[in-house]
Parts: sequence; structure tokens; C-alpha cells
Amino acid sequence: MLFYFSGCGNTRWAAQQMADVQNERLIFIPEVIDGDRTFTLQHDEKIGFLFPVYSWAQPKIITDFIRRLKLENYQGQYLFMVCTCGDDAGLTRQVFTSSIARRGWHVDSAFSIQMPNTYVCLPGFDIDTPVLKADKLQKSIDRMQYINEQVLQRANGKFDVIQGSWPWTKTRIIQPLFQRFFIDDKPFHTNEKCIGCEICERSCPVGNIRLTDGRPVWLHHCTMCLGCYHHCPTHAIEFGQQTAKKGQYVYPEKQDHER
Ligand SMILES: Cc1cc2nc3c(=O)[nH]c(=O)nc-3n(C[C@H](O)[C@H](O)[C@H](O)COP(=O)(O)O)c2cc1C
Ligand code: SF4
Ligand code: SF4
Repeated sequence: MLFYFSGCGNTRWAAQQMADVQNERLIFIPEVIDGDRTFTLQHDEKIGFLFPVYSWAQPKIITDFIRRLKLENYQGQYLFMVCTCGDDAGLTRQVFTSSIARRGWHVDSAFSIQMPNTYVCLPGFDIDTPVLKADKLQKSIDRMQYINEQVLQRANGKFDVIQGSWPWTKTRIIQPLFQRFFIDDKPFHTNEKCIGCEICERSCPVGNIRLTDGRPVWLHHCTMCLGCYHHCPTHAIEFGQQTAKKGQYVYPEKQDHER
């Protein structure tokens, strides 16, 4: 059973790759988080959580989901985490392990995959150059294959997550500040390029956008995945004054090697 979240498609790709190889059920967390969240496990079923890294930790929707998830017939089945990140994950694995331990469950392995960056809302942050993007996408294929092999073998105690520099400071100091002050949809607005196509509304994984008079309105339960910003076909969505000149990225439907 694979639970995943994704705003711009990187983690969706990873989750789909994994579901194909592991032959496991694939569950998009926003589709089940408001239901009764009870899942009955087979005795040999693997339990995977896949998500993007947000400010060197798991997204809040993952924390909330784990807190409310009910796993019936849990008997220590193989449980693992895969996070996708633009650069590094800090102590994401430790944050995840704590969430899981609070439920009395055990993490057997954890992995990260570097993929194209989606964060653009602060000065100094932008999408990757075309060369870097292509390089990350190419390398992610081998990395995904490696992770799939590890999970097929039920590798135990394998914690292969890129922490980067200053992981404690990033996860324990910067992340709470980010969560408090920068997970906020009020700075989102549209410019004159909006054509009322509704793609932003449809691409929001948590139903946080409603089109009103042909323009998106943000409803203040945003996860900050930036799916709306990146999917807009005319680059009409801006975040404060920061993003007018920034780029857009969504996971390409097909990679070159797959064509
Ligand atoms: C709000 C936000 C915060 C992010 N923080 C980090 C980070 O701390 N470290 C990192 O390497 N990438 C960070 N990223 C980049 C994403 O983790 C990365 O691009 C991920 O693959 C996006 O996955 P998705 O396409 O499934 O949404 C951040 C992206 C967003 C939107
Ligand atoms: S996706 Fe862009 S162009 Fe389409 S309605 Fe939303 S903001 Fe307007
Ligand atoms: S409003 Fe935009 S940034 Fe917020 S959750 Fe929806 S798609 Fe993601």
C-alpha cells in the first residue's frame, strides 16, 4: 500500500514507478484524508509513504494524515519512506520516524531522490536551469530503480536520505518558522494574463481554489505545494512580488528516454 502526496508531479511519478514494480495499491492522500482513513493490511503487504520535502521536513498534510491513519491488521509489515527534494532533505527522515513511532509503528527504510526544484516564493529561489533539470530527471530514473530494488528486498535499517549541510538548523529552527510565516496563500493573486481556464482549480490537490467571476480565489487551507502556480498555462499566478520573473515547472508527461 503506497500513500503519496504531490503538487507538481515529481512524487506522483516516483509513486507510480513504485506501484508498478512493487505491485502495491497506490493511494493519493488528499483523496482519502477526509474519509474514515481505515486501511486493512495483508500480512505481507508493504507500507510506503512518498512525499515532497517542504522546508527540510515532511509536508503538514503528511503529518496530519499519519496522525489520523488507521492501519488494521498491522503486524510490523515492512514500512518505508521516499521523499523527493530539489536539493536536500535535512532531518526529514527523523521527523517522519517520530510521526510513525507515535503511532506505534516502525520505519524499516527511508530514501530521498533529487528532482527538479519547485520552490520559487522567496528571493534567491527559482526553478532549475534546463541543463540541471534534465540532469536531475535523468539521474532520478536510476535512483528510482535502485530504491525499488531495495524495497523489493525489504532492505532493513537502510536510511539513504541526503541531509545536506546544517540539517538540524534547517529542520528544527528554519522549518517551524517557515511553517508559521510562509505557509500562507494570501500573497497569491493573478495578473492580466489570466484566461479563466480553471486549470489552477483542477490542479489544486486539496480543493483550495474556486473560480469566481473567471478568476481563482484561494480559500485559506493551502499546503503550499505550488501546483496552481506551476500548472497555470499563462503564468498568470503570482506570489506577492516575488515570482513574476520566476520560472514554472511540472513533471514532464513523458521523459525523453521514454518516448
Ligand atoms: C513549499 C516548498 C518547500 C520546499 N522545500 C524544499 C527543501 O527544503 N529542500 C529541497 O531540497 N527541496 C524543497 N522543495 C522542492 C521540492 O521538495 C521538490 O521540488 C519536490 O520534488 C516537489 O515534488 P512534487 O512535484 O511532487 O510536488 C520545496 C518545494 C516547496 C513547494
Ligand atoms: S490556471 Fe492561470 S489562466 Fe487558468 S484560471 Fe487559473 S490563473 Fe487563470
Ligand atoms: S492553492 Fe495552490 S499552492 Fe495551495 S495547495 Fe492548492 S495548488 Fe497547492
